[in-house]
Amino acid sequence: MLPTPAEGSLNNGVINLDHQATTPCHPAVIEAMEPWWREQWGNASSRQHRLGLTAAAAVSSARNTLADSLGVESDEVIFTSGATEANNLALLGHARFRARTAGGPGHLISVASEHHAVLDPLQQLRQEGFELTLLTPRPDGLIETTQLEQAIQPNTQLVSVMVANNEIGVIQPVQELSTICRNHGITMHTDAAQAYGHLPVNMQHLGCSLLSVSAHKFNGPKGIGALVARKGTGLDPLFWGGGQEQGLRPGTLPVPLIVGLAAAATLAKADQAARLTRLGALRDQLWHDLKQRNPGLLLNGTLHPRLAHNLNITVPGISGSRLQRALKSQLACSSGSACSSGAPSHVLRAIGRSRTEAEASLRLSLGRDTTAIDIERAVAVLTETIQAGATGRP
Ligand SMILES: Cc1ncc(COP(=O)(O)O)c(C=O)c1O
Repeated sequence: MLPTPAEGSLNNGVINLDHQATTPCHPAVIEAMEPWWREQWGNASSRQHRLGLTAAAAVSSARNTLADSLGVESDEVIFTSGATEANNLALLGHARFRARTAGGPGHLISVASEHHAVLDPLQQLRQEGFELTLLTPRPDGLIETTQLEQAIQPNTQLVSVMVANNEIGVIQPVQELSTICRNHGITMHTDAAQAYGHLPVNMQHLGCSLLSVSAHKFNGPKGIGALVARKGTGLDPLFWGGGQEQGLRPGTLPVPLIVGLAAAATLAKADQAARLTRLGALRDQLWHDLKQRNPGLLLNGTLHPRLAHNLNITVPGISGSRLQRALKSQLACSSGSACSSGAPSHVLRAIGRSRTEAEASLRLSLGRDTTAIDIERAVAVLTETIQAGATGRP
C-alpha cells in the first residue's frame, strides 16, 4: 500500500508535506482495528458477557501498550478524543483541583508559542480567576530555564510547555523545566502531540506529571488520544456520566480507536530510529536545496534540537496569500497551524517575525511515506512559485 521510493507519494497529483496537520491511518492500523468494528463490537463496560469482556481485554491490552511505551503504569492512562481534550482535562482539571484544595486560584505559566489547545484553556482559567504568565520564546523558538525560574511565584500551581512545536518543530527542554517545577512543588504538563511517535518520549525521563498524546499525528486513527497523569496528580473531571476512565473521562470507550492507537504506537516505535534518520536527511536536503536555489529564504526556529520531519520557512518579499494560491494545486503544506483561523501564525509572531513575514511562511512536514522524489518535486515547485512571485509573474 505504501509508495515505492521511485513513485513518490503523490495524492491526486499533489505532494503532501503537511503531515503535522495529520497523517494517513496506516494499513496495519486499519487492519488491527477491523475486527473491533465488525465482530467484536462489545461495550468494554459490559462485564456480564463475553462480547463485553473481550472488548475490555482489548482496551486493557492497548492501555498496557501505551503505558509501557511511555514508562508509566497502565492506570495512569486516561483515553480521550485526542490531544485537545487531553490538554483541556490536564489544565482545567488540575488547575480547578488545585484551586479547590488550595483555597483559591493561583498562578499558571506557559509559553506564547504553545498550540491553541493549551493557550485557550489557559485563557478560560484566567477568566476563572487564575493569573497567567506566558513566556516569550527566544528568536530560535526555545525557552530558557532561567525564564521559567524568574516567572515562578509563591502561588504558581501549574506549568505547561510542549515537547515539540507543531509549527516550527523545535524541541523544548522539558526535562530541565520539570526538574525546576518539581523543586518548587509545581505540577508540570507537557503537550506531546507532535512528539510522541516521532521521538523517544518517556515520562519518567521527562519528569512531568501530565502528558497529552494524539493518535492521528503518528499514523493512528482520528478521534483518539490520551492524557497520562502520574499517580497523585489531582484532576477534577470535565464531564460526568458512567464513571469510565476512573470517572475522569466518562463515556462509552471507542474500542476500535483505542486498539488503533496502540497499533500505531507499536508501529511508530518499531521503526522510530531509522525513520528519524531517514526523514532528518530528507528534511536537511529540502532546506539545503531550497536555500541554495532561493538564497533569500529564512529558516524559522533552530535546526537543532528539532523534529526530524519539520521545516518552516519565510519567503521575504512575497505575498503570503499569493504564495498559498499558487502552491495549492501542487503542494499540500501549511501556512501555520492547521487549527488556526487564518490569522498570521502566533508562533512566528512570538519568535519575532513581522505580520507580513509570518503570512509569507510555510510549514513543510514530512511523513513516513515521504520519499526523495517528493523532496525533489517540492523543491522544484516551491522554487518556481517563489521565483514567479518574486518577479511579479502571475
Ligand atoms: C501540539 C498540538 N497539540 C494539540 C493538538 C490537537 O490535537 P487533536 O487534533 O488530537 O485534538 C495538535 C494538533 O494539531 C497539536 O499539534
